[in-house]
Amino acid sequence: MSIEIPAARAEEARARMIELFPEGFEEIERPDGVELVAYTDPGGEERLWTVFGHASASDVPEGWEARWREFHRPVRVGGLWIGQPWQEPPPDAIPVVIDPGRAFGTGAHPTTRLCVELLAKLPRGSVVDIGCGSGVLAIAAAKLGFGPVTAVDSDEPALEATRRNADANDVSLSVRRRDALSDELPDGDVAIANVTREIVEAVARQKRWRILVASGYLASEPSELVEYRHRERAEESGWAADVFER
Ligand SMILES: C[S@@+](CC[C@H](N)C(=O)[O-])C[C@H]1O[C@@H](n2cnc3c(N)ncnc32)[C@H](O)[C@@H]1O
Repeated sequence: MSIEIPAARAEEARARMIELFPEGFEEIERPDGVELVAYTDPGGEERLWTVFGHASASDVPEGWEARWREFHRPVRVGGLWIGQPWQEPPPDAIPVVIDPGRAFGTGAHPTTRLCVELLAKLPRGSVVDIGCGSGVLAIAAAKLGFGPVTAVDSDEPALEATRRNADANDVSLSVRRRDALSDELPDGDVAIANVTREIVEAVARQKRWRILVASGYLASEPSELVEYRHRERAEESGWAADVFER
């Protein structure tokens, strides 16, 4: 399935596509904007129609798996290499190998990378990853020497992906189902929340952590947060991540 979006609406459309296809989508530059392509089933087709009101379906071309794998590029951040199982980690980096399944978080999204970059600079201690998706940030935290690490998400497939990826990376995580908007979250020294601005604000009100690394919103969003002092902001491709403390 693909949709063509004019350049002026591309940023908003990308944000919607991330919500619809957390496992990733492809972006092809077109003369007047971008074409956003998702390899999906009839359910995905329906979701695309519902959100954008238009989309065109085509049979998946031969060799799409190779193309899809090519689309997922490994990243290096904070001394870690974050890649997929079919890629070879370099000998000089600590590998975090992520098979996202249908959960968000290959490591390639700017917000994920920014969170790892900020986390790597913090003093080691216990961590709670709120909205863990594939588990990429929780696993990165464990590999960076943080512990114990707890990963929470409201979505069961995300929790399954996190457990699977933790095993594959040989790290020990406590994985729990929690809704960050309504449940009490686990305590810890540091919380990482790569979610939405609304969820970051709800989480901050729980005041359970000395340091909160937050992302999932655009650089145009304010760097102030209820209950916390702003310490640092990092930005990439229009996205922001912040370190807050209290
Ligand atoms: C943008 S993804 C982040 C995934 C991963 N932590 C990363 O940085 O790549 C956001 C995650 O938050 C989860 N989420 C959304 N709303 C939530 C809520 N109310 N409570 C807990 N998790 C939530 C989603 O299921 C998704 O896995």
